[in-house]
Amino acid sequence: MHKHLLALGGAGLMLGVSIIAVHAQVASGELPDPPKFEAQGTPNFVSISDIMEFKALPEYHEPDYVKAFVDAGKLPPVKDRLPKEPMVFKSANMPDGVGVYGDVMRHVIGGRPEGWNYSAGQSQGWGGIDIGTEECLTRTGPLFTVKADELQPMPNLAKSWEWSEDGHQLTMHLIEGAKWSDGQPFSSADAMFYWEDNVVDPNVTPLNGASPETFGEGTTLAAPDENTIVWTFKDAFPAQYIYQMAYGTFCPGPAHILKAEHPKYKDGQTYDGYKNAFPPEYMNFPVMGAWVPVEYRADDIVVLRRNPYYWKVDEAGNQLPYLNEVHYRLSTWADRDVQAVAGTGDFSNLEQAENYVESLKRAADPNAPARLAFGARTIGYTLYPNLSANGWGEPDARGAAVRNLNRNPDFRLAVTAAIDREPLGQSLVKGPFTAIYPGGLYAGTAYYDKASTVFYPYNLDGAKALLEKIGLKDTDGNGIVNFPADTPEVGGKDVEITVLANADYGTDKSLAEGVVANMEKLGIRVIPNFLAGTQRDAAAQAGQFDWMVLRNGSELISVVQGTVGLAPTGPRIANHHRAGTDGTLDLLPFEQEMVDVVNKFIATSDNAARVDLMKQYQKLYTENLYGIGLTQYPGALIINKRFANIPAGAPIFMFNWAEDNIIRERVFVPADKQQNFELHPNSIPGAPGSAGAETL
Ligand code: GLA
Repeated sequence: MHKHLLALGGAGLMLGVSIIAVHAQVASGELPDPPKFEAQGTPNFVSISDIMEFKALPEYHEPDYVKAFVDAGKLPPVKDRLPKEPMVFKSANMPDGVGVYGDVMRHVIGGRPEGWNYSAGQSQGWGGIDIGTEECLTRTGPLFTVKADELQPMPNLAKSWEWSEDGHQLTMHLIEGAKWSDGQPFSSADAMFYWEDNVVDPNVTPLNGASPETFGEGTTLAAPDENTIVWTFKDAFPAQYIYQMAYGTFCPGPAHILKAEHPKYKDGQTYDGYKNAFPPEYMNFPVMGAWVPVEYRADDIVVLRRNPYYWKVDEAGNQLPYLNEVHYRLSTWADRDVQAVAGTGDFSNLEQAENYVESLKRAADPNAPARLAFGARTIGYTLYPNLSANGWGEPDARGAAVRNLNRNPDFRLAVTAAIDREPLGQSLVKGPFTAIYPGGLYAGTAYYDKASTVFYPYNLDGAKALLEKIGLKDTDGNGIVNFPADTPEVGGKDVEITVLANADYGTDKSLAEGVVANMEKLGIRVIPNFLAGTQRDAAAQAGQFDWMVLRNGSELISVVQGTVGLAPTGPRIANHHRAGTDGTLDLLPFEQEMVDVVNKFIATSDNAARVDLMKQYQKLYTENLYGIGLTQYPGALIINKRFANIPAGAPIFMFNWAEDNIIRERVFVPADKQQNFELHPNSIPGAPGSAGAETL
């Protein structure tokens, strides 16, 4: 056990005889071990080269209905639609082997598509639409099944890469002769347009927030020819950034369609005009992914059809994907669980703990249509205080006063000590699911070290004493502490803090409400600001919040992916601490230390050094409360039993979400189990912007 008496009341307090004084200590204490919970299914650990390779095959095949379009002169032959060397998925690594064509995966999602311009930040509603339409330079979702000592990103649009001798240049070779779903060539021009006019252009923020620093400060990109791109980095061999080139930070959009709408190339165009040029109604938006959007009905459904130019095949030469269609019912996230379990939907990431008991009960029936398998505790929530004090998000006087409190270590300590995590977790779901989460790296993940994790157990009296120590007293006796009299504009007023949370998820709301209730006992009035997903994301990116409750990203699980996001390593990296109006980051000393540790991690490939750096990171994070951890728990993959080629032990969230992890383009339905769910049978996507799918 380690004791960090970060914020004792001072020697005077220690010597005081009163019991209260002893209680007033907020000290670190023993972190209880998470309750035992066995993940179901173990991945079959393999090398990347066991999963796929790039090579030309003697012959290629396609579904009969697609062949009919070729015969009618409406599509080039399959071999001409494929790249010179397609990506070939190896049969031995497919759980059920080479598949057959047909059927549909029916997804249900809680988000709503804003439009197709993900390069400019539009969301397609999540739940796998973007994952199925975008392809990225590298791929990481399936890495859960790759041997730990061989871990590195999988090739994807970049089929290979090599470092210059001094390690400052990384040359990537793109797949040659691949085409967008409308038949136009894919090339380095697409990568360069994404980089120069979206990532680097300060007026554009791609979905998932890539900024130049996502790939390291001072990094540049060039394209010596159509199939080659060259990265130049300030550091030598920063292999970490290759993970950043996977979903969702380096997935180029179709330059041949987007460029014409970008303000740099279109007279009189605004950046908003660019972002919104491809609304959800715009059909057949060109993709590199396996399925193309062909139908959209607001609040009802998005339908995507097989991409006849998809550049991946199986070892028998069958062009992928096997599934002819994918559906996204526009409903709620909770309904996704209900429908997957009932068999009216096909897939869910069971991640809202409130739904666990009912889903488990239903799935236990041997005749249940879907299987349900739990993974490790990789779903976790943190309360993030906005740490910017130099104007990010332009807070008013109250907001500015809250930012100052957020930056005070005693304040963060009081907040964390006033959160009773055990009942908070149990309020979501009773039983062995939730674990106390002090923040930082998740228990059970590769770089987690318990001895480096500082935990401040629940101590309401101590928390109250800390507030008093920093001058927050209930001067008007209404149960809420008041800002000190000398606080600009709000002196003497009740301390009121808003907490931003995603209204689309029951869990996000429950946890934010739990924070409200715990803070009320402490004497702080917290007011929830529940916004629908896209508005929430916008408010978070614009810095318009005091606190936010957030389901964490994959960097706290994998560490190697999204590494830059472990700390405010750049002006636009961390939403809860972005650069202020003057463009500078007013980092607290411990944040600067975190940034240094993260940058050292990126700069070294020495394993022992990395393990040690992550211990330092964990200590800095949890001791200083960069974020205030709430709870962590396991998620379960629910998938209809008719689907084959679902890899064992596929987690719902690790390097990416399960929609990527299960490699959907390889998933199929055996002939005797196929259903007639296709809404646009025998059709192929039409021309970009045309009404929908085309039939013969
Ligand atoms: C949402 C869902 C996740 C997953 C992702 C995929 O965030 O909550 O379960 O489906 O979308 O992007």
